[in-house]
Amino acid sequence: MIHCFIFDLDGVIVDTAKYHYLAWKRLADSLGFDFTEHDNERLKGVSRVESLKIVLEIGGASLIESAFEKALDDKNQWYLDYIRRISAEEILPGAAGFLEAVRGRGIKTALGSASKNAGLILERIGLCDQFDSVIDGNSVSNAKPDPEVFLKAAGAVGCAPKECVVFEDAAAGVQAALNAEMLCIGIGSPAVLRDAHFVIPGFAGIHPNALMDRIASASGRILPPPTC
Ligand code: BG6
Ligand code: MG
Repeated sequence: MIHCFIFDLDGVIVDTAKYHYLAWKRLADSLGFDFTEHDNERLKGVSRVESLKIVLEIGGASLIESAFEKALDDKNQWYLDYIRRISAEEILPGAAGFLEAVRGRGIKTALGSASKNAGLILERIGLCDQFDSVIDGNSVSNAKPDPEVFLKAAGAVGCAPKECVVFEDAAAGVQAALNAEMLCIGIGSPAVLRDAHFVIPGFAGIHPNALMDRIASASGRILPPPTC
């Protein structure tokens, strides 16, 4: 039985990748190398520290520890300058309605995000009360693809991994869900998310009842009857 849907935040509920990109690009510019939107794809789902390591690798640069810490802080401050101004308009199409329908069906909802800014983002877009539990980058020690964030999210709502479905837009997040032994629905491109159980382009026009059949055939599990 599926009792909980666990949602990644960036790229699943809200489109923040463009702001991460602008902040990382500003950092790369300050260090004297280029950083493209194509490069930014490599950072999706990856923690802040791991992201900086990738950015430095792309630029062929290295930083001593104090400069590394300052770069992390600068990037985050520039990112926060954007995030403090976002609103519900940045919620991805269909995501708010999907969350409401899921909760109306009696399925628990949890957030499982790598971001340490998840609380602020949820507050800005007005979705704090749509999650029974929020587990983010402040609550875990191991970044995706480690399953910690999803296992903690499941534990926080009292569900076993096999009772959970994860929604993810990043390859590292899909691997984290699989490592947690959860069913994973990719949000985005099947070419990028090839290890997900199945992939949908987004939540626009999607009702949880319609997904349940696909989840059942992907998992072979017995599902509760639709209540709405
Ligand atoms: C993930 C994003 O959700 O959070 C990554 O996909 C980002 O791109 C990571 O690096 C950490 O985010 P933050 O807000 O803690 O820097
Ligand atoms: Mg994501």
